[in-house]
Amino acid sequence: MKALAAGLTTVAAMVLSIGLTKHVRAANQEPVAPSMSPADANDLIRRRCVVCHTAAMPSGGMNFQLFDAASPDPGVALMISVKVTQDGAMSAAGGPRLNQPTIDEFVRMMRAFAVQRDDASRQWTIDLQVDPLTPKGDHSVVVAHRRSGAGEVEMTCNGATRHSKIEVAVTDPHTPRIATDFDGLSPMIRQIFAWCIAG
Ligand code: HEC
Repeated sequence: MKALAAGLTTVAAMVLSIGLTKHVRAANQEPVAPSMSPADANDLIRRRCVVCHTAAMPSGGMNFQLFDAASPDPGVALMISVKVTQDGAMSAAGGPRLNQPTIDEFVRMMRAFAVQRDDASRQWTIDLQVDPLTPKGDHSVVVAHRRSGAGEVEMTCNGATRHSKIEVAVTDPHTPRIATDFDGLSPMIRQIFAWCIAG
């Protein structure tokens, strides 16, 4: 009887060890995302972001169905990188936790897309900044800034309160007016401010 019991224990231990070995192998084989394609990035955005960012429900004025990592909007890519690294946006939709290498690779890609030129006179610079009035320091103020020979225009939109502001600083006294229209803004950024001003 004793021998049988011992034998059974050995079998049980063997089954357990086979199970464990399999488990460890499976964990090791998980994709670690050494490189991500634009299609992979679009898929992540579709699964993790679009749920709250559609044409019908553009949270923060953003419809992420319009973002394409194959021809990325630099200002939007910058905001995505900030939202993911500082606001945990990849977990906002719930679901299983993404592994960190995948998130890191996604952020690296968005940062590479985010290079904006500040040279051409009609060019806007886009940023996502901490709202000084939010004690928790949420990153919820979209800033569009344009500098030209005539002066500067800065538009801000708080995605949480839907409060917008336009500030103009004229540097050339001979300039009759500075355009505060959306000319030169990309379609997605334009939509943020249109949504904010309408709200
Ligand atoms: C559960 C819903 C939800 C999900 C999922 C979600 N967001 Fe948002 N997002 C919001 C809301 C609501 C706002 C409006 C601002 C606020 O209330 O914080 C927002 C605003 C934004 C903004 C505008 C800047 C701002 O702070 O207002 C960006 C950029 C953004 N989200 C990026 C993302 C990205 C990238 C993902 C996916 C990785 C994502 N969001 C997933 C709800 C969501």
